[in-house]
Amino acid sequence: MTGVTVQKALAREDVVMSRTIIEPFRIKSVEPIRWTTRAQREELLRAAHHNLFLLPAADVLIDLLTDSGTGAMSTHQWAAMMEGDESYAGSRSFDRFRESVQDIMGYRHVIPAHQGRAAERILFSVMCKRGDVVPNNTHFDTTRANVEYRHATALDLVIEEGKHPESRHPFKGNMDVAALERVIAEVGRERIPLVMLTVTNNSGGGQPVSMENARAVSAVCRKHRIPLYFDACRFAENAYFIKLREPGYAGKTPKQIAQEMFALGDGCTMSAKKDGMANIGGFLCTNDDLLAQQEKDLLILTEGYPTYGGLAGRDLEAIAVGLQEALEEDYLRYRIASTGYLGSHIAERGVPIVHPPGGHAIYLDARAFLPHVPVEQFPGVALACELYLEGGIRSVEIGSLMFGKDAKMDLVRLAIPRRVYTQSHIDYVIEVILDVFARREQITGMRLTHEAPFLRHFTAHLEPMVGALA
Ligand code: F0G
Repeated sequence: MTGVTVQKALAREDVVMSRTIIEPFRIKSVEPIRWTTRAQREELLRAAHHNLFLLPAADVLIDLLTDSGTGAMSTHQWAAMMEGDESYAGSRSFDRFRESVQDIMGYRHVIPAHQGRAAERILFSVMCKRGDVVPNNTHFDTTRANVEYRHATALDLVIEEGKHPESRHPFKGNMDVAALERVIAEVGRERIPLVMLTVTNNSGGGQPVSMENARAVSAVCRKHRIPLYFDACRFAENAYFIKLREPGYAGKTPKQIAQEMFALGDGCTMSAKKDGMANIGGFLCTNDDLLAQQEKDLLILTEGYPTYGGLAGRDLEAIAVGLQEALEEDYLRYRIASTGYLGSHIAERGVPIVHPPGGHAIYLDARAFLPHVPVEQFPGVALACELYLEGGIRSVEIGSLMFGKDAKMDLVRLAIPRRVYTQSHIDYVIEVILDVFARREQITGMRLTHEAPFLRHFTAHLEPMVGALA
């Protein structure tokens, strides 16, 4: 190419890039969604004890409760499912699954499980004992619960910027490496069976971890001979953020970036319901032969034989294809752009969100949104209920109800299912949020009337503090 044609090609690319980033798929099968009236929603919310987990999904118009298991599969995934080999042992589908996982993650042993928390339970059952300490950037709720179930302590060591919704940092999911060193010095490496890095950091706002940080954490772990595991749920989104934001990675593919990151660790847990683009499934990886044997023994006891681990052969096929699709660049460009679109359109009108927008979700800062509602009155729950009342949108509180007094923030997460909603759905969500924001002063706090001993947010009952929500 001559200099002039290169210039022209670049100019053409600029034009293409400056246009609307469209959904990189067309729709082949549609699932109707249903409107309800405000009066119906008030009744439904009362019947659900003001806990959105307890609502029938059919009464939700736009479901942003989670991006987990809620994605749309591709034609390639559906085609692969027809090839599912349902043999109990030695299934061909397991080979495809393992090859796809190893292609990206690179670990020696791949142990299938029915979802992420099953992988966590097996990992911590084998590695953790009473009195141990597990550092993480931020534990997801099931990860924390599984560590604590072993009578071990789950420590969150995210960098200071990661605790402040308004602070701007390209990698707010990073772990505080100095704090990790301090913890190892205080606790002793014998009581730290592993260190975890959650990519992206879901509970901290869907924020990515940089390669530089993963490298530094890995170096500390290797120095002290402590294994490093990734909670890999959203590894592809994390890789794309590195490509966009970290010097030296613009020219690499998301897959190369993911491979480089996983090579810094000794294993991972994965919920294939996220960046596995599947509706169910997960796995655990390790390079340790002895651990793998113990993990497989436990797997047989509770999940299934090691070549299916509680999944159907067709699920293994869907994951094998989905993991690769999650790394496709046009998909990731659309994914990150559409989440950012929601975030920037509400933020520019003054709605307080966790900045910058995360990969899979936008997090409203409920403490700043409802400054008149005290933290003890669950501002996140109050806001989430109001979004449902106003527009039939379901979101989830990540704050004082989920984490109790340990909650550093009260957030309302709007998680975007993969390849499910179009831009007009998102435009509608923006309008509803802005309407609620305009009359935020009328929103009251909530009182807890029933709670379970752990993971209480799934089943808690609440009621508005005074009068009706209106
Ligand atoms: N780790 C992270 C970071 C997660 O976000 C999740 C699930 C898990 C582990 C557990 O995986 O659900 O397959 O057992 N997160 C979902 C969510 C539930 O809505 O964020 P799982």
